Amino acid sequence: MERLVKPELLDELPPKDRQALRSRRDIRRLNAWMGHPRMMARILQQCQDGRTERRLVELGAGDGHFLLSVARRLRKRWPAAEATLVDRLDVVDPQVRERFGHFGWRIRAEVAEAVEWLRQAPPKTAGIVLSNLLLHQLPAEPLAELLRLAARSAPVVIALEPRRSWWPHFCARFLWLAGCGPVTCHDGLVSIRAGFAGRELSALWPEAGRWELTERPVGLFSHMFVARRKG
Ligand SMILES: C[S@@+](CC[C@H](N)C(=O)[O-])C[C@H]1O[C@@H](n2cnc3c(N)ncnc32)[C@H](O)[C@@H]1O
Repeated sequence: MERLVKPELLDELPPKDRQALRSRRDIRRLNAWMGHPRMMARILQQCQDGRTERRLVELGAGDGHFLLSVARRLRKRWPAAEATLVDRLDVVDPQVRERFGHFGWRIRAEVAEAVEWLRQAPPKTAGIVLSNLLLHQLPAEPLAELLRLAARSAPVVIALEPRRSWWPHFCARFLWLAGCGPVTCHDGLVSIRAGFAGRELSALWPEAGRWELTERPVGLFSHMFVARRKG
């Protein structure tokens, strides 16, 4: 299956639109079903080696529920972390902010394009840059630019993305059966066609020799990418 990046409906709807709100709720449920918060929490723990401070930046953070679910899993081992939630839309759920506080996490929300935010951030701004279901939305050139800037910002970069293969594509046709609305049913199929396979993200990574790169299928539907600077 060739990679094909097409616009997603959620990106075109106003943040408060009823369909957009429903789709963000669907994404929360799908993240839970795909096990993404659990996977991300596990990867973060594996990457925590004394070099990476608990200073996280999530690109394309949406309403913040994804990182909140990760924080919930990490709260005992990471009782205090600082996270910056970057999204092009102002959609962070106000209750989410409060709940992060219960785990001792400090949150800052930034409304910005991911590439622009990284471009203006001083180098080595973050301990870890992570994203969930964002990279597939970018065509090859802006994606390569985002990865280059992320590598400049942090010694660890993590992404969980849709896997571009026949099984996720087949299952995505039945998202309506799982109670997902029309926006999610459309965007689900589009996301998988724009998702990743093989070592496509590693191939775009800058100065690959200086980094340890892990990229592989994970779970039933997902694709994982982890870059750790060597030394
Ligand atoms: C599929 S949602 C995932 C949200 C969140 N990561 C989660 O898992 O719940 C993708 C998010 O990325 C944001 N987004 C898309 N393109 C972006 C860009 N170029 N820069 C910043 N945010 C972007 C969208 O507004 C949306 O909130």
